[in-house]
Amino acid sequence: MKEKEIKREKDNEKGVAKEQEMSEYNTLNCEEIRENLNTKYIGREILFFDKIDSTNTKAKEFSNMGKNQGTIIIADEQTKGRGRLGKSWSSPKGEGIWMSIILKPEIEPKEATKLTQIAAAAVWEGLNKIGIETKIKWPNDIVLNGKKVCGILTEMSGEQNKLKYIIVGIGINVNTDSSKFPEEILNSATSLKVETGKRIKRETLIAMILNSFENLYEEFIKKDSVETVMKICKEKSALIGKEVIVMMKDQQKEVKAIDINEDGELLVKDREGNITKIISGEVSVRGLYGYV
Ligand code: BTN
Repeated sequence: MKEKEIKREKDNEKGVAKEQEMSEYNTLNCEEIRENLNTKYIGREILFFDKIDSTNTKAKEFSNMGKNQGTIIIADEQTKGRGRLGKSWSSPKGEGIWMSIILKPEIEPKEATKLTQIAAAAVWEGLNKIGIETKIKWPNDIVLNGKKVCGILTEMSGEQNKLKYIIVGIGINVNTDSSKFPEEILNSATSLKVETGKRIKRETLIAMILNSFENLYEEFIKKDSVETVMKICKEKSALIGKEVIVMMKDQQKEVKAIDINEDGELLVKDREGNITKIISGEVSVRGLYGYV
């Protein structure tokens, strides 16, 4: 597994790939990501791998080795991509964005779930900047035309009340053809290319997401506020107003999603009119009649 030398290539506008790039696989160009970055520390160090087990796993190793906050681990292919709740994450070569951000915030561990929503809002903003309108499916999915295009896996390490680091892993199906999706997720997963009919330039999109991420993360760290994040998560929610099934370890409930509060918890109402707060942890939510 080798880290790549960075090549300089000409920039491309608006994230849509050039015609000659259409047919073949292109390795990610980290220099092009940097050229589009306007961040102070997020993405200022990018560690790129052709093939890796999981960028989240690698990011943990690098955090333990003392890598700085803001370091990004990106791979063109993951062989053991991981999703939430012990699921695997299909990460074929050169077609998606498989990346992890190392963060070392001085916050209490219970605040860490907010990082997932910060990332969801950043992905939403990044996609919006390249002209793609998505929805956010609480707590960690980005949805396009009713199907999942992106998932976020936030993992942390620490002791009691002291966090050591947080890894925010972002997986986006960018130029994946539907034939590459595993059978069991065909009905619920899609890619940006399948939905828009266009190949998207991954470098531009990565930079847009990281730019948004740093702004939203700074608001959280410096002002202790997730106001902008929750505004985006609420306004662009794929769930609010819908009948959903909330699945917990040993039970599932049919409820209506009614709001997301300032702490990022989903508020749901049952048939009797009782309102409950759902904390993202070990739950998953899906629409009563399908994925959303
Ligand atoms: C989910 O929806 O369950 C979360 C999926 C997260 C996938 C990303 S891809 C980059 C990073 N590395 C991993 O192994 N997982 C995350």
